[in-house]
Order: sequence, then structure tokens, then C-alpha cells
Amino acid sequence: MNIQQFQYDRFGLFLHWGVYAIPARGEWVRNYDEMKEEDYIPFVKEFNPEAFDPQAWAKAARQAGMKYAVMTAKHHDGYCLFDTKTTDFKYKEDLVRKYLDAFREEGLKVGLYYSLIDWHHPDFPHYGDRHHPMRNHPEFSNENRDWNRYLDYMHTQIRELLTGYGKLDIMWFDFSYNEMKKDKWGAETIRDMIDAYQPDMITDNRMEGDGIYPGSIMEEHPSRTAGDFTSPEQMIPPYGIVNKVGKPVPWEACITMNEHWGYCAKDTNYKSAALLIRTLVECVSKNGNMILNVGPDARGRFPKQSVQILKEIGEWMEYNSASIYGCGASDLEKPEWGRYTQKGDVIYAHILDESIFDIAVHIPMERIESVRRLSDGSEIQLVTPWNGESFPEYTFLNVDTAYHQMPDPIDTVLEIRLKK
Ligand code: GLC
Repeated sequence: MNIQQFQYDRFGLFLHWGVYAIPARGEWVRNYDEMKEEDYIPFVKEFNPEAFDPQAWAKAARQAGMKYAVMTAKHHDGYCLFDTKTTDFKYKEDLVRKYLDAFREEGLKVGLYYSLIDWHHPDFPHYGDRHHPMRNHPEFSNENRDWNRYLDYMHTQIRELLTGYGKLDIMWFDFSYNEMKKDKWGAETIRDMIDAYQPDMITDNRMEGDGIYPGSIMEEHPSRTAGDFTSPEQMIPPYGIVNKVGKPVPWEACITMNEHWGYCAKDTNYKSAALLIRTLVECVSKNGNMILNVGPDARGRFPKQSVQILKEIGEWMEYNSASIYGCGASDLEKPEWGRYTQKGDVIYAHILDESIFDIAVHIPMERIESVRRLSDGSEIQLVTPWNGESFPEYTFLNVDTAYHQMPDPIDTVLEIRLKK
């Protein structure tokens, strides 16, 4: 998948899944609890997701209107969901292959998340590292740790993923910090492998970037290890993302449904489908993508709340996805009542607020070919309300139904076709 296709698709599914679903306090549980590896091993031995049904996952994603998916092949805990020859710290079946096969079968593009960080590997820094579970434990000093041996391990795993699983559309690396970035990861070598084995694959920016430091993707001339899109996390940029010389940079906001990436049994603080739909619209209105996360549980099932949210998002997307796919920011300034997305000479008005009167769009009437409610194709009449002639650069649209209710309280979308 190239970056243009990625930006056309706009909406993806993130999957954070692994042994950490058993302690069920998120994928950083070893860090939070400063959990020794020996205390994690019982969970490793227990992990056996007998209800794993990748076809059901893929169908739920497609029905939600998602066009691509990215699943963890290995997270920071170092446990591999793929059949690597480099370690036996892996599941007995190749869960990555099952995921890829099912999602490709369902017609989605497929990606893998791969953690550059590895808290299991003995050659990865422990004591004094910024994030390692044993960072505060001097008994885990770093003498005799051979960083090049770790790099060889990590690069071999990446090569296995790039050569052993067919055509991959996205590789989502995570994440750089302090001196642990770019050359420390052997990013040029990783880039060489991608160029050799998966030249059409795109990547995020995190071989170089960490949080507020997105790396050279924001420079006028990004390095070859900069990645293809930047990855704001749990936030939406105020006005989209441009680099240091004002050129738009492809971006994808990664968002959780509750407050955790990995399964967290006690976290029932799920965002509503309505908020997530509006967040997707906000991303697209600012030329961005949104990848929405599900953290499957230890049995291999999506949490019930996630299933319901995906279903409700799909119900809106079924009627309104034309205002998402292939769309981006409009030339019009953001209106008071909602947002615009645009595709060529079609502007989509996303009406998010009730209004006591007709909806004003900052488009002179003579430029408008037609206005239709996107969901049902019904005509929206252009009107000139009392005093309306005082605002010739605006057109007023009669949208509301009885008692000033918008047809779709989540987001009523109007398709405004401009005259050629
Ligand atoms: C952060 C978290 C990591 C998660 C990633 C998703 O880097 O530390 O656990 O996988 O965000 O974007």
C-alpha cells in the first residue's frame, strides 16, 4: 500500500494482543508493577486463546468500515505471536499468520506492529533504562549485555516478518526514546530490508520519533528512516500536521476505545461510538487517518463493548462513508455547526450541532449544483431566509426535521456538489 492509498482509506483497526491480556491491566503491566520475568512466565505458560476467531475479528472490522488493520507481532514484553526461529518465547501457533490470512480474505489491507523495545531479551538494557521493568533494580545491571547481539536478534525477527508472511501493507514500529532511536536501532539496516523485501510497504515514524519528537519526517528533507506517516497518539492535532516548511505530512491518530491498548478487564471507560465517529470525521477534516484500537482478551475475543462500538460505527459508515474515504480537508474554514470534509468538487457538511434555523454554508448559491442528504439522497432545499439577503456569500440550507431535530444526531452529512 502506498501513502496515497493509506490516505484514501482513512480508517483502520489497531489490535494489541498478547500474554498481557491475562493480568489484564494493559500491555505495560510489567513496567507498572516492576514485574520480574519469573513472575510473568506463569502467564506465558497459561496463554492459550482457544476462542481466537480471526475471521470474526476481520468481519467486525470490515463491517465497521475499516480498510486496514495492524496487529502486534511482538510488544515490549518480547513475547512473539509469530513463529520465529530466533526464540521459543512465542506462542505454539502462528497467530500472526492466522490474523493476516483472515483479514486479507475479508479484503482489508494488513499491517504488523513490532516493538523495537524488548524487555525479555537478556541483551536489552535493564537497570537504568527509562522504561524496562527492572530499571530500578541494580541487581539487573547491564554488564555482559551485548547490544549488537540484541540488534542481530531484532533484525532477524524483522526479516522473518518481511519475508515470511506475504505482502505486508504497513509496518508500525514502536518506539524511540532518549538515545534509543534511529542508528541505535540499526534503522538503516531495517530500511534496507524493507526496500529489499517489502518496497511497497509504508511505515510509521517511530524508528526516529518518540511522542513530541516525531523525527526527521517533519524536516524539509526527511531521512530515509523517517517513515511515511507520523503517529499522534491519543490526541488530534489542532489543525492537521505540516512540516517545518509548511508542507502537509501524512498522519494517523492512534486512539483507544477505553484507556488501554492491551486488554484491561477493569477499564470500562469506553468512548461512545458517536464520539469516535466524530473523531474520525475530525481527523479526515484535517487530512488525517484514524486507527482505532481493540484489545482482545486472553480467550481471544473482542470485549463486548468493543463489538458494540464497532457495530454502531458501521451503521453510520454504511450510509456516510463517502464523506470519509478519499476525503480530506476542505478549503472552507471550519463552520460553527460542525466540520467539512472534501473530495474534489464535492464538499461534505458534517452537521454536529442542532440549530434553531437553517444551516449557513460559506458558499455563494451560484456555485452550488445540488445539495443532498448523503444517507438517503434526499434533496436539501436552498433557502433565503428573512434577512438572508444580507449575507450573499452564504447559502442557507433547510435541513432540520420536526422540532429542529437533525436527522442523524451523531452527524448528519450533506453532500454539496459544486458547479464545475
Ligand atoms: C505507546 C505505548 C504502546 C502502544 C503504542 C500504540 O507507545 O507505549 O504500548 O503500543 O503507544 O501507539
